[in-house]
Formats: sequence, structure tokens, C-alpha cells
Amino acid sequence: MKENKKVSNISTMELITAENLNETQAKLIVLATKATDKAHAPYSNFRVGAAVILADGQTFWANNQENISYPAGICAERVLLSYTHANFPALKPLSIAIVAKKSDNTGLATVTPCGLCRQTISEYEMKFESPIEVLMLRSDGSVLKADGIDQLLPYKLEDLNV
Ligand code: THU
Repeated sequence: MKENKKVSNISTMELITAENLNETQAKLIVLATKATDKAHAPYSNFRVGAAVILADGQTFWANNQENISYPAGICAERVLLSYTHANFPALKPLSIAIVAKKSDNTGLATVTPCGLCRQTISEYEMKFESPIEVLMLRSDGSVLKADGIDQLLPYKLEDLNV
């Protein structure tokens, strides 16, 4: 029997120190950090903020909105991208930053988007045919940067007609 072929998709991301962020990236991290303050997270106490810059330079932010019926809760990234796409459907999101505070509120937590949020980011990349940068703050203040969702969601569902 012939050996099966292998496929691989190795994701390499950059880890940026705070002083090496460009102006836009630093601004998004600040906005996402501020957005954690207004999170509605009484069940997990994990306060997440997200900030996005759209193609015309406008920035928006949002946070996680939990619910006593836990599955009804929504992550910060999806609250944000749903809002911006509902209001500015013609403007592509260029970059999104995500920040989280530890559940005991003693400092920053390392955060990466959940699977549903990765899928949501993928949807807008597909619509605008353009990658969306994802900046993820870590507890040591450094930022993990994905240049697009491929690095976070390999083998993604791209086209239902294939
Ligand atoms: N959460 C986000 O809002 N974004 C993430 O990237 C990770 C998780 C929220 C969901 C839930 O309200 C809480 O954090 C704990 O998982």
C-alpha cells in the first residue's frame, strides 16, 4: 500500500513588544483595554474588550455581554464586528485588537479569540476579500499578531459550493 500524502498548515505569528507597536496598533490596544471596563461579565468575571479600525479610519470598541442563560452570552469580538458591519457594511475591518482582564481583576490575562469569533472574523475576510489583522494582548504586555485569520483558523470553511 502506498503511503498517504500529508498536508500541513503551520502557523507562525509575530510577538510584538509594546514599544514596537505602530500607532494604529497601540491605539487599538488602548481602546480595547478601556472597553474592558464596561464589560457585562458577572458570571465569568473575565472582562474582554475589543477594538477595530475600519477602512475609513473610524475606530469602534465593544466588550463581552454575558447572560444568565450562559450560551446567550456574546464575546467582545462578535458584539463589535456585528455592530460595525450592521452599521457600516461597506467598510472593511482592517485590524482588531483583543484585551482581557484576569477574572480576579489583578491584571491582564492572555487572550485569543474563541472558535466562533475566529469563524466570524473569517466571514468578514471572505466578504471583503482581504485579511484582517488580529492583535491579542498577553499578560506580559506583549502582543501576539496574526496577519489574517488563516493563522488562527487553518483549514477553514471557505466555500460551501466546493
Ligand atoms: N470572551 C470574549 O469575549 N472574547 C474572547 O476572545 C475570549 C472569551 C468572553 C466570553 C465569556 O464572556 C468570557 O470571555 C469567558 O470565556
